[in-house]
Amino acid sequence: MEIIGDGTAEQFEALVAADQVAQQDRQRREQLRRWLADGSVRVATRNGSPVGYTVVEPSFFGHDFLVLIVVGEQHRKAGIGQLLMADVETRERDAKLFTSTNLSNQVMQRLLARRGWVSSGMVFGLDEGDPEVFYQFPQSPRPAIERNDTEAVSL
Ligand SMILES: CC(C)(COP(=O)(O)OP(=O)(O)OC[C@H]1O[C@@H](n2cnc3c(N)ncnc32)[C@H](O)[C@@H]1OP(=O)(O)O)[C@@H](O)C(=O)NCCC(=O)NCCS
Repeated sequence: MEIIGDGTAEQFEALVAADQVAQQDRQRREQLRRWLADGSVRVATRNGSPVGYTVVEPSFFGHDFLVLIVVGEQHRKAGIGQLLMADVETRERDAKLFTSTNLSNQVMQRLLARRGWVSSGMVFGLDEGDPEVFYQFPQSPRPAIERNDTEAVSL
């Protein structure tokens, strides 16, 4: 059974085990520790063991950005990516939600298309020969009146 919940520092080693990049890249491991400390990580557990995670940061021109989604190789093609995406998409937020992936990452692009994300442009020059495609999830931020945003309401 798969469950999605907030990532905890205790899950660090298991998340590294699920993330090939983290296994090889010290910077990714350091970043993962920071993301866990910041509360930016959501973790998919299968039968109690972490098998994948997402990271969302409010880092994109004041909007939320899905920085990363990873599912451990041996757990892929079982719908865990979909579950993690659904979790990110359905969290309440006051900001818009964006993400990006390399043009070469066909699996991620199919996942985004299946979930209704729409392309919002392409940036060249980040990874040589492999442009970054940006996507937005078509959800409206909550109206100011629901957020109890008195400044906006008084306008
Ligand atoms: C992208 C990624 C997160 C997808 O995770 P995933 O758990 O495999 O995703 P899903 O299982 O929901 O879907 C993947 C494929 O499996 C298929 N699938 C899902 N459940 C299935 C099942 N029960 N049986 C057979 N196939 C299934 C999906 O239809 C999809 O097929 P497609 O690629 O032909 O469209 C994963 O490949 C990954 O971690 N990649 C490396 C990191 C990365 O590139 N991240 C994205 C950029 S940050």
